[in-house]
Amino acid sequence: MSQFLDFALETAREAGAILRAEFDRPKQISYKGEVDIVTESDRRSEALIVSRLQKYYPSHGIIAEEGGGSAAANARYCWHVDPLDGTTNFAHGYPCFAVSIGLADGGRPVAGVVFNPVTDELFSAARGEGAWLNGKRIQVSAVEKLAVSLVATGFPTHQRKRSANINYYWEFTLRSHGVRRDGAAAIDLCSVACGRFDAFWEFGLKSWDSAAGVVIVEEAGGRVTDLSGAPYVLGGPHILATNGRVHAEVQDVATIAERTAGER
Ligand code: IPD
Ligand code: CA
Ligand code: CA
Repeated sequence: MSQFLDFALETAREAGAILRAEFDRPKQISYKGEVDIVTESDRRSEALIVSRLQKYYPSHGIIAEEGGGSAAANARYCWHVDPLDGTTNFAHGYPCFAVSIGLADGGRPVAGVVFNPVTDELFSAARGEGAWLNGKRIQVSAVEKLAVSLVATGFPTHQRKRSANINYYWEFTLRSHGVRRDGAAAIDLCSVACGRFDAFWEFGLKSWDSAAGVVIVEEAGGRVTDLSGAPYVLGGPHILATNGRVHAEVQDVATIAERTAGER
């Protein structure tokens, strides 16, 4: 596993250098949907990552957001690549974005790297080997109660007109120290892993958003399920990542939010 992780670390740093350089230049934006944007930087970062993967691991599968991946039939290992998580932030000059590279073994995330080239924060983990931030071991928070938790969520870019999550935002805001919405799911997951956030939930994440972050949270001692507490499946309809201690309470509030959504 360590050779895979070393490869992902080096590749994420190189792709991050592309994003960092282009962050200071005018952006070329095009639209994949009404508000779902993509930049030349997404594509350049992905081209670098995918070409390296194809060169060094030709028998592995690759699922990459901008379509550059290649499915290797019956491959045991599959890389889930988000070449620029937080594209909207990037395009607006808000310095919260990352390269996310996760490796799954038979569908289960086993290694992951998330690199924010602006803060120079490199999160990583390999199954059974712990989670790290710039070479230092990280752990989830010790917070026990939602009332004193800082939590986070996000809203899928392809759903503009309706989002049940607005109601979750409402319910959690009234019951916690606050709900952050930073616009980069991979970084949100890493923020749970290193104890900045105590919980994070979201609907509609794709496998490339979460593959790396899931293993980083779990290796930092956190818990990842769906909102009902069932095992999280990559690309599943919802995700809940917490420090473990507030998990049940967050699930209870999610149940309330689901119920009250129809009343507002
Ligand atoms: C998005 C970000 C955002 C989340 C969206 C994702 P992208 O990824 O992670 O935080 O709320 O669901 O699609 O499009 O910037 O790679
Ligand atoms: Ca993403
Ligand atoms: Ca992306």
